[in-house]
Amino acid sequence: MSKDIGVGVLGYSIGRVHAHAWRNVSEVYYPLKLVPKLVAVSGRTKEVVDFETKKYGYTRSYSDWEKVVNDPEVQIVDNCLPVSLHPEPMIMAAKLGKSLFCEKPLARRASDAKRMLDAAEKAKVQHMVGYNYRFMPAITLARNMIAGGALGEVILFKGSYLTTNSGYDSPETTMRWQFDSEMSGYGALSDLGTHALDLARYLVGEVAAVAGAQATYIPERPVVGDPKKKGKVNVDDLTVASMKFANGALGTLDTSWLNPGRMDYLTFEVYGRKGAVRFSLERINELEVFLTEKDPGSSGFRTLNVLAKEHPYMKQYWPNQGGGFGWDHSFVNEFHHYLTSLAEHKPVGPQGATFLDGYRNCLIMDAIAESALKEKWVGVPQ
Ligand SMILES: NC(=O)c1ccc[n+]([C@@H]2O[C@H](COP(=O)([O-])OP(=O)(O)OC[C@H]3O[C@@H](n4cnc5c(N)ncnc54)[C@H](O)[C@@H]3O)[C@@H](O)[C@H]2O)c1
Repeated sequence: MSKDIGVGVLGYSIGRVHAHAWRNVSEVYYPLKLVPKLVAVSGRTKEVVDFETKKYGYTRSYSDWEKVVNDPEVQIVDNCLPVSLHPEPMIMAAKLGKSLFCEKPLARRASDAKRMLDAAEKAKVQHMVGYNYRFMPAITLARNMIAGGALGEVILFKGSYLTTNSGYDSPETTMRWQFDSEMSGYGALSDLGTHALDLARYLVGEVAAVAGAQATYIPERPVVGDPKKKGKVNVDDLTVASMKFANGALGTLDTSWLNPGRMDYLTFEVYGRKGAVRFSLERINELEVFLTEKDPGSSGFRTLNVLAKEHPYMKQYWPNQGGGFGWDHSFVNEFHHYLTSLAEHKPVGPQGATFLDGYRNCLIMDAIAESALKEKWVGVPQ
């Protein structure tokens, strides 16, 4: 028997990708036990809110996020606001007994993330962070291979998230919340690097210590509406880090907005003693795999097209049609996982990222920033 469940989305930017996925999940994964209904959306610009309301079929819209959280028909609060606005709505929603979904990173700092985790646990409500890349077929396949021992003991993780982020590499791009630590936490690290760190934990395990370095190459930008005036950028636009994992593996991270030629270059390489995998988001349907072969003369990396119905999630889509899997489908998959866990009263982990995962991710980012400041290795609290 299926039942409707009301969704309220805070914010309409990545929020529209969420709306698209909430609408599609019940068709892609038909039949669902809990069928999401888009009840309400909020955002600051009325014309955009009105447009989104019509386009995605929300029942109503508000200018204030508080009204969405308090709407009695909203049972899932989906937070797509700037990072500084993640804690309050989530804590308020938890107190009202609503289910929580929050975009990444969970918070600006681990201290805020901990308050959110505590509120969710105290209220015993469902909680999940939007680390959607966990729900891509090639990435879930990589995790299954690593967990199944195909690579042997893992010794090295190399993760990158490099982009030009729709013009962030240009000094002419105006000030926005992502450039202000009060709203974002960190810069490229909170925006992009957090995804690569999540994959490091998802694929390899807990990070125990880090040594980071951060730089800001574009220190000021024009203010919106007054381009002659300059605002100060107080976050990193490039972060690098070395990492020691609790299980003995070593790793590296590099993340930046200033990378000519890189559109959405989220990549990882994982090396075990018996094999290796490599992924790039710019080649979303492919996983490069090397498994130690008997004949060294014919061995080498193979590129798997992760498109067959035997691959994770693909039987729900269009296997054999050559069109492949799209970025937006990862949101459909993560909402399916969320709704199924909710219906079955199970936590979303370890496949999905819980608020505990979001908190641990923030601990690593805080440690990288501290290490960069002190110019020495910093332990990550376990
Ligand atoms: N998972 C992903 O791949 C992915 C991609 C993009 C963004 N994100 C995350 O989504 C979140 C939102 O990012 P975005 O790029 O959509 O941001 P954005 O600035 O484009 O949109 C933010 C939304 O919040 C609203 N908003 C902004 N300031 C507000 C305020 N002070 N009060 C009330 N509402 C306000 C805006 O009206 C807008 O609807 C961030 O946490 C970001 O990291 C995740």
